[in-house]
Amino acid sequence: MYHLLVALGKFLLFNCFLSSKPIIFARQLKTTHMTILLLGSGGREHAFAWKMVQSPLCEKLFVAPGNAGTAAIATNLAMSPTDFEAIKAFAIQENVGMVVVGPEDPLVKGIYDFFLNDPALHHIPVIGPSKIGAQLEGSKEFAKEFLIKHNIPTAAYDSFTAETVEQGCEFLETLQPPYVLKADGLAAGKGVLIIQDLAEAKEELRNMLVHQKFGVASSKVVIEEFLDGIELSCFVLTDGKSYKILPTAKDYKRIGEGDTGLNTGGMGAVSPVPYVDAVLMEKIETRIVKPTIDGFQKDGIAYKGFVFIGLINVNNEPIVIEYNVRMGDPETEVVIPRLKTDLVELFLAVANEKLDEINLEIDPRSATTVMLVSGGYPEDFEKGKVITGLENVQDSIVFHAGTKLDQGAVVSNGGRVLAITSYGNDFQEAIKKSYQNIDKLHFDKMFFRKDIGNDLK
Ligand code: AMP
Ligand code: GLY
Repeated sequence: MYHLLVALGKFLLFNCFLSSKPIIFARQLKTTHMTILLLGSGGREHAFAWKMVQSPLCEKLFVAPGNAGTAAIATNLAMSPTDFEAIKAFAIQENVGMVVVGPEDPLVKGIYDFFLNDPALHHIPVIGPSKIGAQLEGSKEFAKEFLIKHNIPTAAYDSFTAETVEQGCEFLETLQPPYVLKADGLAAGKGVLIIQDLAEAKEELRNMLVHQKFGVASSKVVIEEFLDGIELSCFVLTDGKSYKILPTAKDYKRIGEGDTGLNTGGMGAVSPVPYVDAVLMEKIETRIVKPTIDGFQKDGIAYKGFVFIGLINVNNEPIVIEYNVRMGDPETEVVIPRLKTDLVELFLAVANEKLDEINLEIDPRSATTVMLVSGGYPEDFEKGKVITGLENVQDSIVFHAGTKLDQGAVVSNGGRVLAITSYGNDFQEAIKKSYQNIDKLHFDKMFFRKDIGNDLK
């Protein structure tokens, strides 16, 4: 009886193997020429699209919903990146061979699992982490627990809810100012408060927990030790087992020159970051990147996509302040232009868990980008302003961030409007080109920072 069962098991296993083989084979065959669906509408997605359409593997590219920049090189779809049923219908209808996810929202909502668990979509690889993996960005507490569990350096913390708000206030009293309060959930980049005054920190903690300052995102709050050092970002592409570290980049988060004023999505970026040397990179890789990817394996987290690790370098010791489960924006607009390797080939290797077989080639030049934003951003701003001068730009790449076509004209359609990317032998040369081309561009109330890269000189 036992032997019979073993034989039956082997037979079933063998058959599974046989029946799953042609699917993989068919997927690989199809990939010599593939229709790709890219989700998102910002500068990051325009940069991905710009790179992917250069690949001989990309037969047709759709972007949902895209912008005026992606419309010029691909086909835009009036479809929300979180409307999974619409995405499903489209993917089947157009025989889509791969889905690349730009923003975090669809990932946190589980698009990877949605495809994996649907027999009609199962064969289509999704570039991005599983729903549980996306919790690294979707929940600050989940990220902190992962960091601690895998011995990855991070700031000391504790987390609180409305029920434990008084303990939260007591915890604040044990810390030195400034106080760092982080809404647990997604809050469109606004959920982190850094406060000097203890009484104010307590009041804001109550606002977040009791008065839901950031909605449900702040029904839990992580209070963290403040780290004093230089911020930098590390971007990793992983197939869940092996990984490639992409070029470093630094972004400029504040709206005002000299890093003043409100936080934005990012006003410019530089790659590589001149002060990141081989010694620091080695520390980042051995102490942070490798344990992160090993952590995915140990915890059984399916992760086939980008990991964006936010770090603070405290006396040459890199410490993690956050994970994002996607590329940064505008960092993508300087990282992707420096990538010489075919991006679709890279994504295929991610899907097939063969990333270790790829040799990553990086352009040794610097790349910089300057973001042109709508006057008033990151607070209230007007949209629909006609953009002029695009045809006069020379020797820079214009990535559209918030634009759309309106009766043939390119008009602004968001806070961040255009990212002007340039190459140079060093970042000074690159940034000069971006500013020269910005002089040729115009829209009503256009604003940009004139000091991108100045802190690196
Ligand atoms: P996050 O959304 O976690 O990246 O936080 C937003 C910004 O807050 C970061 O880019 C940092 O500038 C700052 N920040 C976050 N955590 C800390 C910390 N523990 N110490 C100092 N600054 C922090
Ligand atoms: N530039 C920062 C971000 O994409 O979150």
